[in-house]
Amino acid sequence: MTLHIENTDIVNQRHTNWRDSQNYYGRVSRTLHWVTAALVILQFSIVLAWRGTGKNTFTLFLDSIGPHGSLGLLILIVTLIRLGWTWVNRKQRPPQAQGIGGKLARLVHASFYALLLFLPVFALLREYGEGYEIRLYGMIILPEMERNITWMVAPANLLHSPMSWLLFALVIGHISMALIHRFWFKDKVLARMTGRHSAN
Ligand code: HEM
Ligand code: HEM
Repeated sequence: MTLHIENTDIVNQRHTNWRDSQNYYGRVSRTLHWVTAALVILQFSIVLAWRGTGKNTFTLFLDSIGPHGSLGLLILIVTLIRLGWTWVNRKQRPPQAQGIGGKLARLVHASFYALLLFLPVFALLREYGEGYEIRLYGMIILPEMERNITWMVAPANLLHSPMSWLLFALVIGHISMALIHRFWFKDKVLARMTGRHSAN
């Protein structure tokens, strides 16, 4: 499942390209990927810290830097920008490996996009449908109001929790595969997302 990538091409284009190429992800895609990763990891760390230790100064501090709804809304905004950028670069992206490994990688990446849209969109619809305000940190985007709209509330009630743990499992698998590529297959899959291309 190793990928053949021309190192000279990578080195030549180093630090110059904002857009993606056949050989690596450009600066914009890489930035959007690592911002998503940081936000998603923070989101899960805070949920797990609350579950593990309950209300204390640490979890309250975490909540102040990343309120659950605001982090979710930020993840949604970054994902929409990312999908737009993926579309712009659709003809010039690094290819996946042939065979079952590549198919699996494509499926997991598509599931990430689907979950990173589904989770915040339906959670926000639930907040709205229950009459709560929608905020991004201090900023009120939609004010609270008397509302009880069942169809908006039902999907998240049913699926937000199981789908978020599915995302968690996929993230663990995804990180493991990135490390397996780096340390076992010793190929350039991680390098094309970190931007650390070398000729070795
Ligand atoms: C990608 C974004 C999001 C992720 C990864 C995420 C993840 C999670 C996780 C892991 C839980 C704990 C589930 C459990 O205890 O079994 C949770 C619960 C919850 N989340 Fe999110 N969330 C996201 C976005 C949002 C947004 C935007 C809102 C609302 C504005 C929201 C509202 C809630 C609520 C009310 C709960 C508790 C009730 C429930 O489990 O359904 N979430 N979320
Ligand atoms: C924590 C949340 C993360 C999410 C939601 C996420 C999501 C994604 C998505 C959707 C892609 C596909 C990009 C595309 O082609 O459109 C991707 C690629 C990639 N991610 Fe992540 N990622 C996360 C964290 C990480 C971490 C921590 C690592 C490294 C340890 C990593 C390494 C990679 C690599 C190497 C690729 C490129 C794979 C390839 O070209 O085949 N990701 N990621």
